[in-house]
Amino acid sequence: MNVRDFVAGLPKAELHMHIEGSIEPDLFIRLARRNGVAIRWQTEDELRAAYQFDDLQDFLDLYYDGCRVLVTAGDFFDVTRDYLRRAHADRVLHAELFLGPQGHTSRGVPLATVMEGVLGAMEAARAEDGITSGLIAVAQRHRSEEEGLAMLADLEPWYGRLLGFGLGGAEVGNPPGKFAAFFARCRELGFKVVAHAGEEGPAAYVRESVEVLQVQRLDHGNACIDDPALVAELAARRVPLTMCPLSNLKLRVVDTVAAHPLKRLLDAGLCVTVNSDDPSYFGGYVNDNYLACEEALGLGRDDLVQLARNSFEAAFIPDAQRRASLAAIDAWVAQTATTTR
Ligand code: ADE
Ligand code: ZN
Repeated sequence: MNVRDFVAGLPKAELHMHIEGSIEPDLFIRLARRNGVAIRWQTEDELRAAYQFDDLQDFLDLYYDGCRVLVTAGDFFDVTRDYLRRAHADRVLHAELFLGPQGHTSRGVPLATVMEGVLGAMEAARAEDGITSGLIAVAQRHRSEEEGLAMLADLEPWYGRLLGFGLGGAEVGNPPGKFAAFFARCRELGFKVVAHAGEEGPAAYVRESVEVLQVQRLDHGNACIDDPALVAELAARRVPLTMCPLSNLKLRVVDTVAAHPLKRLLDAGLCVTVNSDDPSYFGGYVNDNYLACEEALGLGRDDLVQLARNSFEAAFIPDAQRRASLAAIDAWVAQTATTTR
C-alpha cells in the first residue's frame, strides 16, 4: 500500500482548525450571492489566486473580511457541515473546531445565530457520519481582555455545549499575559484552555502561555525550538503542540516544509500533532498536511502512526473514546502491515 492510501485510512483527530478558515471558494461565492454581500472576486479561480500571503497579518486581513459572507444560521451550518464531511473523508474520527465569535458579533450577527448554526452542524455530522466534535471559542488577541471577558459572559447559554477557549489572531505585540485574567476565568469555569503561541511570536510567548495562561495545549508552538530548556519541559510534561505545516508554509513562518521543526520536536519526545488550521486558504486538509510532512521531512510509517496516536492523546475526549480510537489505529496498522512498503 502506498503512503497516500496509508494516511487516508489512518484514524486521526484534528485539533486545530478554524471554521471560518474552511469556507471553500465555491461556497464563499454562493454565500456572497445568497446574502447579497459585495466581494472583490467573481470566480473561484480569482479567489484561489488571491490566497497568497506575506505573513499572518496579511492573511488575517483577508480572513476577517471573508467572514462577511457568513450571515444566517444556515450559513454557519453549511460551512461547519462541509468541513466535517471532508474531515470524515480524511478518516478524522474526532475534530475540535475553533470559532471566533467576535468576528461575527462585531458585524452585528447575533451570537445565537452563530452558535446554533455551528452546533447544529456538529450534531448532524455526528448523527450522519459518526464523527464526534467539540467547539473551542477563540478570543481575538488584537482586541482587549475586557472584550474577551464580555464574549465569555455572552456565551453562558452555551457553556454546556462548549469544550473550551483559545486565543488567536495577531500574535506579535499581543503577548499571552495580556489575557491572564480571561484565561483564569475560563479555567475557573472548568473549561479546557489552549492558545496560539510561537507561530510568529517568540519562544517566550510559548513559555508564557504554559506558565501564565496554564494552557493544556499549544497551537503551533513552533518557536519553542529556540529554547532547549523549554523543549525539554514540554517533552517531559507531554504538553501537546497542534502544528500546521502547510499553514506555516503559506504564512511564511517557514521557507519550506523541509525546514519545519515538526520532526525535530517529535524526535525530542514532544506530543506533536498535525492539523490544517485554515484548510481552504492554505490549500490542504489534514491528510495533505500529513503527506507534505512525510515527503519533505522523510517521515517513516512509525512517525505517521505516532502523530495519529498523539492526536488522540491530545484530544479533549473521554478515556474510553481515547482507548477505542487508539485501538482503531492499531487495527489499521495490523491490517496494512503486510501490504505497506
Ligand atoms: N486565526 C485563523 N488562523 C490563524 C492563525 N494561523 N494564527 C492565528 N490566528 C488565526
Ligand atoms: Zn490557528
